[in-house]
Amino acid sequence: MRVAVFFSGRGSNFENIVKMLHKKEVDGMQIEICAALCNKKEALGIKLSERLGIPCTLLESSNFENREAFDTALVNFVRANSVDLVVLAGFMRILTPIFTSAVKAVNIHPSLLPQFKGANAIEKTFESGAKIGGVTAHWVNDELDGGEIIDQKSVPILSGDTLQTYETRIHEAEYILYPQAIVKALKTLSDKA
Ligand code: GRF
Repeated sequence: MRVAVFFSGRGSNFENIVKMLHKKEVDGMQIEICAALCNKKEALGIKLSERLGIPCTLLESSNFENREAFDTALVNFVRANSVDLVVLAGFMRILTPIFTSAVKAVNIHPSLLPQFKGANAIEKTFESGAKIGGVTAHWVNDELDGGEIIDQKSVPILSGDTLQTYETRIHEAEYILYPQAIVKALKTLSDKA
C-alpha cells in the first residue's frame, strides 16, 4: 500500500509515521511511505524529509489562483505517484470536493471530535475548562474535521497542567493513535480492493 504524507509545519507526526510504518509489513500489507508533499516553503518538515529519505514535493498553495487549482494539482500528484492513501499530518488547508471526491485521505485532529473543530483545537480545549481532551483520527470529506471517525484517544487535563504540558501529552497520544488508525484505514481499503 502506497502512502503519501501531506504537511505544512514541523512534521513530527510525519517523522513518527515513517518510523512506525515505512517499509513495514502490517496485517498482511506491505506499507511504503512513497512520497511527501508540503505547501509551505519555510516548513521544518522539508529538511526532515531529506533526513528520512522520503522524496518531498513543495507545492506552494500561495502560488495558485484559487483552492480549486491547488486541489487539482494535489489530485494530479496523488495519481502520478499511484498513492493508495493520503495521510494529512498538520496540513493546514481546507480541501474542496475536487480533492475529497477523488482521493482517499485521513487526518489527525488534536481534540475529541466533534468538539473543537478547526484551528487551535489544543488551546480551545485547554481554555474550555474541560477535564478531558484528546485526539481523533478520521477520514477526510468536504466538511472540515467532519469525516467519519476512525479512532480516538482521550488525554486528561490535569490540575497542574500548563498549555505546554497538555500539548506535549496530546502529541504523545497522536504518535500512538495515528499509525494504528492509518493501518486500520489501509486495511479497509485493501479489503475493498
Ligand atoms: C498536530 O497536532 C495535528 O494534530 C494537527 O497539526 C499538528 C501537526 O504537528 N493536525 P506536526 O507538524 O506533526 O508536528
